[in-house]
Formats: sequence, C-alpha cells, structure tokens
Amino acid sequence: MENKFEIIGGAKTTGEIEVNGAKNQALKILAAVVLASSTVKIENFPFIEDTSRMLELLEELGAKVKINKILKMVEVDPQGIVSKKLDDLLVRKLRASILLAGPLLGKFGQVEMNHPGGCVIGKRPIDMFIDGFKKLGAKVKWSEDGFCLQASGGRLSGGKYFFPKITVTGTETMMLAAVLAQGETVLENCAMEPEIPTLAEFLNQCGAKINGAGTSRIVINGVSRISGGNFKVIPDRIEAGTFVMMGLLTGGKLTVKNCIPEHLGAVIPILEKVGAKLEIGSDFIKTFPSKINAVSITTHEYPGFATDLQPPFTLLMTQAKGISVIQETIFEGRLFFTDQLVTMGADIIMCDPYRVVISGPRKLYGKSLTSPDLRAGITMVLAGMVAQGKTTIDNIYQIDRGYENIEERLIKVGVKIKRI
Ligand code: EPU
Repeated sequence: MENKFEIIGGAKTTGEIEVNGAKNQALKILAAVVLASSTVKIENFPFIEDTSRMLELLEELGAKVKINKILKMVEVDPQGIVSKKLDDLLVRKLRASILLAGPLLGKFGQVEMNHPGGCVIGKRPIDMFIDGFKKLGAKVKWSEDGFCLQASGGRLSGGKYFFPKITVTGTETMMLAAVLAQGETVLENCAMEPEIPTLAEFLNQCGAKINGAGTSRIVINGVSRISGGNFKVIPDRIEAGTFVMMGLLTGGKLTVKNCIPEHLGAVIPILEKVGAKLEIGSDFIKTFPSKINAVSITTHEYPGFATDLQPPFTLLMTQAKGISVIQETIFEGRLFFTDQLVTMGADIIMCDPYRVVISGPRKLYGKSLTSPDLRAGITMVLAGMVAQGKTTIDNIYQIDRGYENIEERLIKVGVKIKRI
C-alpha cells in the first residue's frame, strides 16, 4: 500500500532547517553528463525521487553511477552510453526526461523516446523542444506514443531559435543540444533562472563555449568534445521559500540555513510587505512570529514571483488579514489544489483556472487530502501544520519527488508528522 503522511496541527516550527541542493538544477546537470567524455562528480546532490529516476534513465542508457549519500555526492561516468532510446516507463514518470533528448541528439545525432509524462502539471506540451531541435537540423519521426529525432548527417548544426514562450527546461535542453553542434547557435527569449547560468558555467569549465546564460539571449559556439568535471549543486530556492513560509504560517522562530536569499529576490519583498518579520543573512533567513496581511500576487518567470512558490503563498494568504487575488500565469491547473484547502475551511473562490480570490484569516481543520503534484503536496503538509486536528495526505510520492527525507527534517523543527 502507498505511504501517507499524517500531521497533527498546532505545533510551531523552531530551530534550524537546512536547504538541500536544488532539484531543478541537479536534474539538468545529470542530463549534461551525457555530453562529457569522462566522469562528472556532483556535490550537494539531492537524493529525491526525481533525481533517482534520472539516474535510472542514465544507467539504462549505459552510464555508470556511484552514489555516496553521506557525502551527498554522485559520480556519473557517461563513457558506456551506447543506447539512444530512453526507457518508456521512466519517461512516463518524469517530465524532466525530455532534458536528455538535447545532449543525446547533440552527442550521438539520434534519440528515441515516448512523450514525457509526470504529475498532473507534468504532462505539458513539448512543441518548443521539437521546433528548436528542427532549427538545429534534426528530423522528427512521430510514432503512436513518442518520437525519434535524427540529426541530418549525424551531427546537429548551429541555428537560431526564438522561444515563443519562456521555458526553463526548453532553454536548458536547447543549450545542451547546441554544445556539440557544428557552428553557432543563438537562442532568444530564454529563461533566466539562476540554475541556467550555473549550468552554463559548469559546461564552460568542461570546454563548452556558452555566452549570455542568465540573460534572454544565449549564444553557443559548438565544440567537438567536452571533458568531465566537478559541480556543486546550488541551494534549492523553492525549498528555501517554502520553509520560510512554513515558519511564518506556524508562528515559529525558524532559521532556514544554507540558502541564497538573493535567489528569492521577488519573494522576500512581498513577504516583508505582508508583515513578515525576517532576519536575512548572506546564507540564511530567519522567521519570527508575525501578523500577516493580505496582498495580491501574479506569478512570473524569473526574476518574478516563482510559480513553484505560489501554492505555499496561497496557503499563507488563507491565514492573512484581508482579501488577496492570486494569479497563476505559468501553469494551467496549478490552482486546482485550492479546492482541498476549501474543504479544510479556507475561503477561496476560483474565478477561472488562473485566478483565485482569498478572504482571510480563516481557521483550518484537519482533513484527508490527496497531493496532485509536488508543490501543492508540500503545501498540504504546511496546511496540516496550521489546521486543528489530524490531516492525512495521500499520493506522497509527489512530495518525495522533490523533498528529501522531509518528515525527518520537519520533525527536527517541531512538526508532528509521520509516514504511515
Ligand atoms: N510549454 C509549452 N511548450 C513547451 C514547453 C513548455 O507550451 O514545449 C509551456 C508549459 O506548458 C508552461 C510554460 O510553457 O505553461 C512554462 O513551462 P516551462 O517549460 O518553463 O516549465 P518547465 O521547464 O517544464 C521548470 C521546472 C518547474 C517550474 C517551471 C517554471 C524543472 C524540471 N521544472 O519546468 O518546476 O515550475 O520551470 O519555473 O526545472 C517543480 O519543481 O515543481 C516544477 C514544476
């Protein structure tokens, strides 16, 4: 039987909680390993379900993986990669598997895979990836469940691609595809998340020639090979922001350690505006008991308010004084979890799939919930901490996808949570 979380509400979170390496960076570095000609050592690696699936995909392709959980490290040797077909089952579980298409196509001139799947918001389109690959000279053959991409003449060639919509994984995948392509690639209207320049820095250290990562225009001059190397995953800004909101929701004095507050540039001023008392250091954020007022937000691509922090912020607004409007602009369906907060007692009206109006504060009561995706799932855990009584959460694979040993880490700061 599947695991559940059981949470008893009412406890304040106090003490210190450390932020782990960023899921959404580790996944990209693992994809980049395919391009390398020797072993890549990755430090501050988060051992979560999503990165485990990605490591399994690499092993299926022929890579050798060494894991050291105590040192939070993995070493991946890509030299044995022979297969260019991604495992169907794993691809269906992990949207991020599409990342591997870029480096496989770039290095071997070929890749075959099913349409990537994942959680309820994971099954989104991949049209920009396909269009981008075509601009680099790839031909696409569609089959019933997936597609096969082949580079004309066995090697991609540089090209220009303007992303019609800003896409994080799309930007990274195209950047990876272009590293070994012949000639210059220019990508425009790129995503600018901090995980992108750090990925480019790593690739450049290994011999790639990438300029402009972290801005909306990235230029890649193709090289014929890149070496292996060492990389340290940056702290997870989404985990950090979620823990800060947890401190504010429970009214505790909580120090969120090992984070880069700068990466929460859009979020911290909003939290301060709603009345959050925070102490911000160079690598920590401390929360203090605060009276929270309502404010409206709109999610935006980086450096705007991250969509991944919208669910915990929405919960925070159920406990704030006044009325707030939350507008989700990145993912359709990312506000649907709010109907479960309503069953707990929250006053939330959905105007359309992209907007909710929240009146607060409202007392929440423990209920049985089901996690539809990662960020809604962790928000339900937070809701359980605020609610009176017992909350149970189903489908917690969705939470384990992105938060390592979450219950152990939460218990240490005072949360009454168990895995049953
Ligand atoms: N989109 C298309 N066509 C495409 C690609 C994307 O229409 O070919 C659309 C999507 O449907 C969405 C929008 O473009 O509406 C933006 O999606 P994007 O491609 O930026 O999302 P992503 O790169 O797949 C990453 C993170 C997400 C995070 C978003 C936005 C990874 C592995 N995932 O997704 O993280 O929410 O960027 O910041 O990096 C999470 O960690 O919980 C998570 C969902």
